[in-house]
Amino acid sequence: MLAAMTEHDPRVLATGASDGDEVALERSLRPRTLDEYVGQRDVKANLAVLLEAARRREEAADHILLHGPPGLGKTTLATIVARELGVNIRYASGPAIERPGDLAAILTSLDSRDVLFIDEVHRLGRSVEEILYPAMEDFALDVMIGKGPSARSLRLTLRPFTIVGATTRAGRISSPLRDRFGATYRLDFYEPEDLAAIARRTAAILGIELTPDAALMLAARGRATPRVVNRLVKRARDHAEVHRDGRVDAEAVAEAMAALEIDDAGLDGTDRRLLATVLRKFGGGPVGVAALAAVLAEEVETVEDVYEPYLLRIGFLERTPQGRIATDAAFEHLVAQGMDVPPPRRPAAAGTLWWGTSGAPDVQRDPGADAAG
Ligand SMILES: Nc1ncnc2c1ncn2[C@@H]1O[C@H](COP(=O)(O)OP(=O)(O)OP(=O)(O)O)[C@@H](O)[C@H]1O
Ligand SMILES: [Mg+2]
Repeated sequence: MLAAMTEHDPRVLATGASDGDEVALERSLRPRTLDEYVGQRDVKANLAVLLEAARRREEAADHILLHGPPGLGKTTLATIVARELGVNIRYASGPAIERPGDLAAILTSLDSRDVLFIDEVHRLGRSVEEILYPAMEDFALDVMIGKGPSARSLRLTLRPFTIVGATTRAGRISSPLRDRFGATYRLDFYEPEDLAAIARRTAAILGIELTPDAALMLAARGRATPRVVNRLVKRARDHAEVHRDGRVDAEAVAEAMAALEIDDAGLDGTDRRLLATVLRKFGGGPVGVAALAAVLAEEVETVEDVYEPYLLRIGFLERTPQGRIATDAAFEHLVAQGMDVPPPRRPAAAGTLWWGTSGAPDVQRDPGADAAG
């Protein structure tokens, strides 16, 4: 079952945009104004003030740092910032700006008050970051001219601009860089009503007939993430077109989700495998993320950025100084999905007695073998 799913659509629930088609789709679905941007009310309210103030002063807006898990709308919001300010936006990303000269070329090409969006801003190289400091602070670019004893430094003045930085890992940004952002906004997971509104909006744009109860079902399974909800809307539409009359109602969603092995908590086979691994091989944890990633044959970053945030949010995983713990709720969820997993073994109050009698974790069995749908 799991293999079938990974073959056809490995990343239905992955929170990253997966291919060219998807990127094009995202662009077409992207809200273009703050009003169209659903949810994130606090961020929107604060950002609206910042943008209005900049407009009134006729100045470049302060540099803005957006952080939060993938697919919550950071790139979208950066685009909206430029649009609301009535300026151009340039897109760049931390790892793509390889040399200081690359950044200098971008910065000198900006018009007054333009927005430069830097995605994955925590992955800027050190030498690039260093020329960004005076650029952000004083709109100045320090360039070295010549070599050896005759070398001298020249300071160029840049037209004022706004950097919008985005990152999934605020903790990875160096503090000198972080300090140069005048405003930092944390995007949070979305509430079900907001996700349902996003699903309805997407359906309307794509010309899909989506019933209100079906929108709520998709919202409940969308990992609190707009990108995932949009993808589920598309998959449900595909299913409805191929197997039914094209209308996406509750039954069509139920069938489509069953076919994709997405359960009613919105978990897919990989999520269940992750939780089952913690229970089976590590007695429920604590287990270090590196060990967990190794068992799952995933990158540590993927586990941390893609799988964990949602599992933490719904209380199926907990982070402790010793490592990750699968909670009782996770255990109960897997059992309800028909999976055979041992309950977590927890130290009793004194730390000497263990709860549960299932003995050694079962290390023989393939943890994904009985992932239920
Ligand atoms: N608030 C919102 N209202 C409606 N749709 C949204 C909202 N936020 C995001 N979306 C939709 O979700 C998609 C993904 O958003 P976006 O690309 O901005 O996420 P991101 O945070 O930049 O992700 P990543 O970290 O992977 O770069 C967008 O194409 C857009 O259609
Ligand atoms: Mg993005």
